[in-house]
Amino acid sequence: MASVLVLHGPNLNLLGTREPERYGHETLDDINQMLSQLAESAGLGFATLQANSEADLIERIHATRHDDTAFLLFNPGAFTHTSIALRDAILAVELPFIELHLSNIHQREAFRHQSFFADIAEGVIAGFGANSYALAMTAAIDLIQQRNIE
Ligand code: DQA
Repeated sequence: MASVLVLHGPNLNLLGTREPERYGHETLDDINQMLSQLAESAGLGFATLQANSEADLIERIHATRHDDTAFLLFNPGAFTHTSIALRDAILAVELPFIELHLSNIHQREAFRHQSFFADIAEGVIAGFGANSYALAMTAAIDLIQQRNIE
């Protein structure tokens, strides 16, 4: 069964208490639960990892070569703006993915306007709080169905 992998980058384990006025009150568990239900109703598997370390995220991306991951939803957190290594990892495993953010990074500091992922992503969703994840999952399900990935 094709599976969607959701990767959350650094500091996203603190969702719910981290700058709630910016990132909302939902916890990472709330978000993951909502996403696993969406994937399950579409007949897809679901896996997720939050990591504060770049290395752990890279290792998990490499592991998709040997599991049933068909699509990646990725909120790289601050690594969005810094990590060529994560960009290279995704290119190496040739995994289609959507970049997503809770906040609208383009309304924020100039250093957040650059992404090392946007130009190689299927698409980018930013600015809708926890709903960014739901919108990204809906888009991923559509693409998986359009492409008949099993
Ligand atoms: C974020 C935006 C990043 O700039 C920031 O470093 C984060 C969260 C978001 O989801 O809005 O950690 O990725």
